[in-house]
Amino acid sequence: MCGIIGFTGQKAALPVLLEGLATLEYRGYDSAGVALWADGIQTVKAEGRLSRLVEKLKERSSLSLATCGIGHTRWATHGAPADRNAHPHATERLALVHNGIIENYAEIGAFLIERGYTFASETDTETAALLIDWFYGEYGDPQQAIFSALSMLRGSYAFGVIFREYPERIYAVRKDSPLIVAATAEGGILASDVPAVLAHSKEYYRPEEEILSVLEPGRVRFYTRDGAEIDQKTERVDWDVTQAQKGGWPHFMLKEIHEEPEALRRTVGHYLKDGLPYFGVPALDSPFPVRFHAVHIVACGTAMHAGLIGRHVIEKWARLPVSVEVASEFRYRDPILCKNDLVILLSQSGETADTLAALRHAKAKGIYTLAIVNVVGSSVAREADSVLYTPAGPEIAVASTKAYSVQCAVLYLLALRLALLRGQIGEEEGKQLCTDLYTTVPEAVREVLSESDRIRDCARELITAEHLFYIGRDVDHALCTEGSLKLKEISYIHSEAYAAGELKHGTISLIEEGTPVIALMTASHVAEKTLTGIREVRSRGAQVILITTEAIAQGLEIPCDKQILLPEIAEKFAPFPAVCVLQLLAYHVAALKGADVDKPRNLAKSVTVE
Ligand code: F6R
Repeated sequence: MCGIIGFTGQKAALPVLLEGLATLEYRGYDSAGVALWADGIQTVKAEGRLSRLVEKLKERSSLSLATCGIGHTRWATHGAPADRNAHPHATERLALVHNGIIENYAEIGAFLIERGYTFASETDTETAALLIDWFYGEYGDPQQAIFSALSMLRGSYAFGVIFREYPERIYAVRKDSPLIVAATAEGGILASDVPAVLAHSKEYYRPEEEILSVLEPGRVRFYTRDGAEIDQKTERVDWDVTQAQKGGWPHFMLKEIHEEPEALRRTVGHYLKDGLPYFGVPALDSPFPVRFHAVHIVACGTAMHAGLIGRHVIEKWARLPVSVEVASEFRYRDPILCKNDLVILLSQSGETADTLAALRHAKAKGIYTLAIVNVVGSSVAREADSVLYTPAGPEIAVASTKAYSVQCAVLYLLALRLALLRGQIGEEEGKQLCTDLYTTVPEAVREVLSESDRIRDCARELITAEHLFYIGRDVDHALCTEGSLKLKEISYIHSEAYAAGELKHGTISLIEEGTPVIALMTASHVAEKTLTGIREVRSRGAQVILITTEAIAQGLEIPCDKQILLPEIAEKFAPFPAVCVLQLLAYHVAALKGADVDKPRNLAKSVTVE
């Protein structure tokens, strides 16, 4: 999704803006632009990758001296990716960058047309720029102009605005979109995300909604709508800039998959006390099992797939009913929520608009909400009744990997806690499971990583495929949904995940000579059933890649073309190494195809629009 950046200080702003935009590239974009104060406001924009903007900037050497400016990477929503639609949007008096969506842009457009404005783009954002311009013309004061415009705008935004008459100042404000602001001796900086400010400061502000930040060289001030200056809390990041860099790996995705063992150990260790799960959250203490009668897990994409693993383990261990739902559907369906239910929101970024909306829906109904989030201080984390952070460190690749694994780990711990409190599991067994989760699981994932070359050999078989299927049953089917998503989003090969028993009800008609089928068998109680599915597709010509454990493979004659054996580990923990195999398989297919693995087309890392 769009990324915004801004800098005002004692040194050249352009390198700071370009470096910041490069750091925000991972969010996904299709055009970029900057506006700098250099004897008035100068704007340069380019469709495509950042390198095209850099090329264009070579012809504008005067901009290299500017010390104040804003920049943007745009992920098209209203209007095609094109120079005219790229941000910043500028008038004679100001320039503006925006992350979010102005929902009532048509209404605002009509208001502006009546006042003689015309539009240079098809974007919703331009209406916001022109509206602020109109009020600025009326009042002559940036602060009043911005707040007046905000009172008319509906939707989500993080804005950065510069005014021709205030050469050293940047104004910034947010609602339902992320915004980070920091002040250092060198200057004031704003960005959509922490990695973009990290090179300048480890300490930053996440301004509250509709609080105006005014950045000047060396300081930042915050104002409410009625003009009162207020303080905002600072936050500090505990990772450094190198963690948000590739560090010699060909892609962030591969680096992040390799970080899984450590991320798992860190996450599990964080939530253990005296060998058992402990969350340090009042609502998760003793009344918890009595209070919650059902669990609803709500999330999007990969996070929702982690929720499927959560359902499996919470139902199995704690015997509590769990539903898992896509966040974009949740609130519109008007779900039946009872006062003793628990709604769990899973999100890596904590800024996903649909997940945030689902959270607000549940809260409005008076249901207790628990967020499991990776980004500290993000909107979902702040608004939920309680939050459990997943200390996975920054995840930069668009395709989520380590965040999924640690979400699963937290859900395992939660399931265990519920099971203990509901008397489904005894303390000794609980301690053993926690020890396994802390030691054996990261080791098993590490073993998979050491088999990366063999997994790449299997991947070679898939690079010419146009369609393929993932099949499995029970928890294996849940894992297949994630394996399939990973493959299609980065390699652009169409794939489907099917419950192995469901194939014969329609999909099997698509199987023909050579169709690749990835069969996952880690759950012994359904292994024979999955085997039937494998036989069905194989006898119709499918080329089967089997992912299983030695214990299952030994007990059954499983026909396949290639086989990947998972490390020896208790069956209940097999999802961790299994998903690592699926992630590596998808990664290698995409990398072998020469795809842009970290920034797949059309995708954004943090989906801040509905
Ligand atoms: C896929 C992927 C997405 C995200 C989804 C939710 O690899 O990363 O499907 O999982 O957009 O994002 P978060 O977890 O930030 O809410």
